Amino acid sequence: METIKETINNVKVAWSCPSNIAIVKYWGKKAQQIPCNSSLSLTLSKAKTTVEIELIKKKSDEKKSNEEIQLSYFFEDKINDKFKQRIIQFLQENISYFPYLKEYALVIHSFNSFPHSAGIASSASAFGAISVALLDITYTLGEKEKDALFYQLASHLARLGSGSASRSLYAGFALWGNNENIPNSSENYAVEINDIHPVFQEMKDAIIIVDDEPKKVSSSKGHALMNEHPYAQNRFKQANNRTSELISILKTGDINGFIRLCESEALTLHAMMMTSNDYYLLMKSNTIEIIHQIWSFREETQIPVCFTLDAGPNIHVLYPKDYQNQVENFIINHLQKISLNVLFDEEGNGPIKLK
Ligand code: PMV
Repeated sequence: METIKETINNVKVAWSCPSNIAIVKYWGKKAQQIPCNSSLSLTLSKAKTTVEIELIKKKSDEKKSNEEIQLSYFFEDKINDKFKQRIIQFLQENISYFPYLKEYALVIHSFNSFPHSAGIASSASAFGAISVALLDITYTLGEKEKDALFYQLASHLARLGSGSASRSLYAGFALWGNNENIPNSSENYAVEINDIHPVFQEMKDAIIIVDDEPKKVSSSKGHALMNEHPYAQNRFKQANNRTSELISILKTGDINGFIRLCESEALTLHAMMMTSNDYYLLMKSNTIEIIHQIWSFREETQIPVCFTLDAGPNIHVLYPKDYQNQVENFIINHLQKISLNVLFDEEGNGPIKLK
């Protein structure tokens, strides 16, 4: 009997996967992208990567090189050799999950929904989308049902591509790392946090782009600087405690507790950068200006709005959906003037299969 692989010549799939914003930050890692502390994020909706993947059967005379990964990678219709090398390395290290790559050459077209220079970390959505799409092909060729373990395995693979990508495979809030209160939590993959109070459901996130220049210090370098960091052990302990605290805040609806924890996490992440050896600073003057404006607005209106930061100068403004009009008017009238762009995003549902 012919195997399914022999009967199919060309296979095509397309998936989209959103980015996510960490509330408790992952900063510091061991080998194989194992995090030094647990982290908890909100999956976004509009900021996402779409990948179209095509498998083309290698010709028989190419079979002699069938150990070799054959990849054509296009980002926004242009060849991107830097990211291609990163994907090849990822595929080589994880070939056991994608055995068909011995027989098939791979063509990947990747598109981001957000502007190229928006300063949004795209590796989380990119590795989320690539992992889920390639695993979908593994399941389809092996005639395997997609169950809950499918997303867990996709999250595991995404983590090996880019740590924070592990959290993009789920809707809403996702935890990556061990937590004694969450069964099945793991440092190998993320899990969804389900017990969420209505105040945190359909949470809004406006991304204020302050600067769109490439970062002077990459996240990989920043993680590495945590290895010799004088405050590292206390920081890892603090983040693990905060993950537990945040799980309880999300359950009880303690919005003021959320605001305090969320802003302190952002400032602590940047404090780690400022106290690394070598030290560095990614915030810009308008980052600080916007933080002060958010604090004044909150004090004057008592509206529960807060900020967080990624490893960069741009600000994520987080607010419950019930305050959408007031906060968005404030952003448009005050923050937009001192920023390059604003992307109004919100909680999202995780990856979607397009074809
Ligand atoms: O996934 P990486 O290696 O790009 O690290 C991301 C780290 C932060 O975005 C700063 C925090 C986080 O948990 O996403």
